[in-house]
Amino acid sequence: MYICPVCKKRLKKLDNVWHCQNGHSFDIARKGYVNLLTTNKRNPKNCGDNAEMVKARTEFLDKGYYLPLALRIAQKAGKAISEISSPIVIDSGCGEGFYTCVYANELEKAKVFGIDISKAAVSHCMTRVHTGLVNNCEFAVASSFELPFGDNTADLIISTFAPVSNDEYARVLKSGGKLIVTSPSARHLFELKSAAYDEPYENKPNRYGLNKFELTDEEIFEYKKLLTSTEDILDLFSMTPYLYKTSAQGVERLKALKELEVTCGFCIQLYTKVYGN
Ligand SMILES: C[S@@+](CC[C@H](N)C(=O)[O-])C[C@H]1O[C@@H](n2cnc3c(N)ncnc32)[C@H](O)[C@@H]1O
Ligand SMILES: [Zn+2]
Repeated sequence: MYICPVCKKRLKKLDNVWHCQNGHSFDIARKGYVNLLTTNKRNPKNCGDNAEMVKARTEFLDKGYYLPLALRIAQKAGKAISEISSPIVIDSGCGEGFYTCVYANELEKAKVFGIDISKAAVSHCMTRVHTGLVNNCEFAVASSFELPFGDNTADLIISTFAPVSNDEYARVLKSGGKLIVTSPSARHLFELKSAAYDEPYENKPNRYGLNKFELTDEEIFEYKKLLTSTEDILDLFSMTPYLYKTSAQGVERLKALKELEVTCGFCIQLYTKVYGN
């Protein structure tokens, strides 16, 4: 399934190494993932979430606050690929693997590939694989803007709160392939922003410029969750971009909270690749 990031030829696995016919090779790390970022793309400024961000994300996700979302996406994914006997699914920008493992468990017939540009995140995906006994997924360090997969090879790409690539997704998806993109809804975490900011604002819809796709379904999926400790509130806060925009007083206000009911709100969009792309 993987292609060489250097020459784009197909990679074959021999022992613990992926090789292409032109002699490029990529070792499988001890934890079981492969790093398919070429050395010149390993820019420390653009290497995705760092270990601290991955830890905060894991601690929060493991409490299950976003499990309803993961299951909802998996349900939509299952419908989108229901006609295909052995579907190939890619979770692009998979983070630390919480969602990817839910998809793998729910989509038993599928082979699920998770890719993320962050090595710390992908390494944690493998911890999830080993502890959760998931056997239908594989993980690689790679960029969503240079996917390590051949043309017309995937049935479904899922992108959740991660960068989206019109050209790469259209290249990698088969004809009629599906794409599920999830982003925060207008009211997502509004209560957290109300606690941190003097003038909270609603999120604006994301525009992805997906002109090689047709939007076939859109759902605003919202539910409330009660965060029951200051720690959970701060973990959630550190997963958001508000981390960088909040004043010291705003952070102090959050630290004083013992619980907070928040709206978890998501816009889940289903796209179909337009014929000819
Ligand atoms: C907000 S997180 C979402 C992760 C995961 N989908 C989730 O919801 O838990 C965004 C992820 O995109 C990754 N990322 C950023 N730029 C990327 C790129 N060019 N290619 C692949 N992943 C990227 C980050 O490392 C991070 O794991
Ligand atoms: Zn090669």
